[in-house]
Amino acid sequence: MKKIIIFAAILLFAAGCGRENANPISDRDISYRAASLTSTPPVEPKAAYSSKPPGAAPILPRAYNGAPPQIPHSIAGMPEITPGNNVCFNCHNRKSAKLFGATPIPESHYTDNRTGEKLPVLYKGRFNCVMCHVVQSDAKPLVGNSFSR
Ligand code: HEC
Ligand code: HEC
Repeated sequence: MKKIIIFAAILLFAAGCGRENANPISDRDISYRAASLTSTPPVEPKAAYSSKPPGAAPILPRAYNGAPPQIPHSIAGMPEITPGNNVCFNCHNRKSAKLFGATPIPESHYTDNRTGEKLPVLYKGRFNCVMCHVVQSDAKPLVGNSFSR
């Protein structure tokens, strides 16, 4: 008897699975790119980054108050930041910035983030500049954004 009940339950379940949904959701509606899930979208053209060397690029507007300024100049060909060599620091540190016409690294970067203590040297948490400051490309935003300052 028990076996028959289990068998009947399996049959009922299988029948339920096979039933067509009266209002199926189109795969276009599931897709984030508003296209069929099986279609291959055309490849976007490669984004172009600033090719202007430091000193020749106009400063970019800040996204909002307190936002890390974007890098307006090209960083192509600059050596990678390593513990022993930071090319960004060479130009932007408080002592040499004026000489290079660069914006000096602000007070906040010479402050210990955890204790608020002012430091005579750059705070290590600010050493890897490109963690927060990035170069800009002319790429079209993929998703619209109504954020305003
Ligand atoms: C040869 C010197 C030099 C080097 C190296 C350099 N910069 Fe600059 N940077 C400048 C100058 C000059 C400006 C002023 C804008 C301009 O004309 O390019 C500037 C502007 C900036 C700004 C914009 C500041 C603002 O107020 O909006 C940021 C951010 C920046 N640089 C970050 C970096 C980072 C990060 C690196 C390393 C990957 C770097 N820079 C390497 C000279 C330099
Ligand atoms: C942890 C994130 C972070 C790192 C790492 C960092 N910055 Fe910044 N930076 C910011 C933010 C946020 C601001 C804007 C607020 C402020 O001035 O503190 C800023 C501001 C600046 C400015 C603009 C100063 C002004 O007076 O307008 C310069 C130049 C700059 N940073 C250079 C650098 C350089 C060079 C490095 C690497 C040695 C670096 N930053 C590392 C977050 C960072």
